[in-house]
Amino acid sequence: MTILVILRIILTIVAFNHKDLLGIKDLSKEEILSILDTAKSFKEISKRPIKKVPSLRGRTIINLFFEPSTRTRTSFEIAAKRLSADAINISASTSSVSKGETLLDTARNLEAMCPDVIVMRHSSSGAPHQLARICKTSIVNAGDGAHEHPTQALLDALTILDHKKAIEGLEIAIIGDITHSRVARSNLHLLAKLGANLRISGPPTLLPPAFERLAEGYSGSVMVTPSIEKALRNADVVMMLRVQLERQASAYFPSLKEYSYFYGLNKKRLELAKSDVIVMHPGPVNRGIEIASDIVDGNYSLILDQVTNGVAVRMAVLYLITGGSSANAQKEVLER
Ligand code: CP
Repeated sequence: MTILVILRIILTIVAFNHKDLLGIKDLSKEEILSILDTAKSFKEISKRPIKKVPSLRGRTIINLFFEPSTRTRTSFEIAAKRLSADAINISASTSSVSKGETLLDTARNLEAMCPDVIVMRHSSSGAPHQLARICKTSIVNAGDGAHEHPTQALLDALTILDHKKAIEGLEIAIIGDITHSRVARSNLHLLAKLGANLRISGPPTLLPPAFERLAEGYSGSVMVTPSIEKALRNADVVMMLRVQLERQASAYFPSLKEYSYFYGLNKKRLELAKSDVIVMHPGPVNRGIEIASDIVDGNYSLILDQVTNGVAVRMAVLYLITGGSSANAQKEVLER
């Protein structure tokens, strides 16, 4: 029996022993690999003519979104439906939050209707953690302020693994508005835990000095540099981040034109990376600002693959958090 086969067997018996998924920081390397393994099993369902298995029949998933979303909200809804769960979407603007109801009262009232999982996005860091403390229902963080976006990092890792043999040892550049990025934080925890070497880059005003310390104790490394060229040189993976103007109360750089000039990814800059580099972006993309349009649509880009993998990762998270195991996920797919 090869080491890979043994590792796979160990992963399939690792139970996901958490009530909630609030951040990647709370997960062990084995738990991360177990979610990714489950997502790999579920990927195939989305390629079938009838994209549905009964794994979560009778379960209720509430998507509670206090911030706009296209990819995360839609893919959580699709994920729930592909597993035969009932999915309900609630936007803050059309809920009683707009009449002054508090977040905690909203959660208590939703919980009174006995859902199995509440998936929540909120502009405040720590909002899902507050819900998790007062609710018996499982809470999944779909992005909280500038803190964490765990399912985004998981789908990013799945996309990287589709194209590279392993994450350990990869040179990964994460470039852009790091200060406001929950994607950067979740990816730092995930990729450094799995042994990648990260180069974190952006304008000095958007580059938190404490970022290197976040990876203390992980097997990978983190280098923070304001030089985009240094970050890109010989990179295996380039992850560009959106300039989050909605979270910037003050001016962090003189103009978008200058941001693009100094920190935008274009063809010439991408030549610094390895010839088999892959380019990623969590979306939504500001074309022509953090990334040139021809790179978004070009051969190196995996941006839409990331979106596709988002469904499988969210299926895996919903399945595991409601008591499924990675081993059973493979059976669910094979037997249906
Ligand atoms: N990547 C991401 O979170 O996109 P949405 O804001 O559209 O969900």
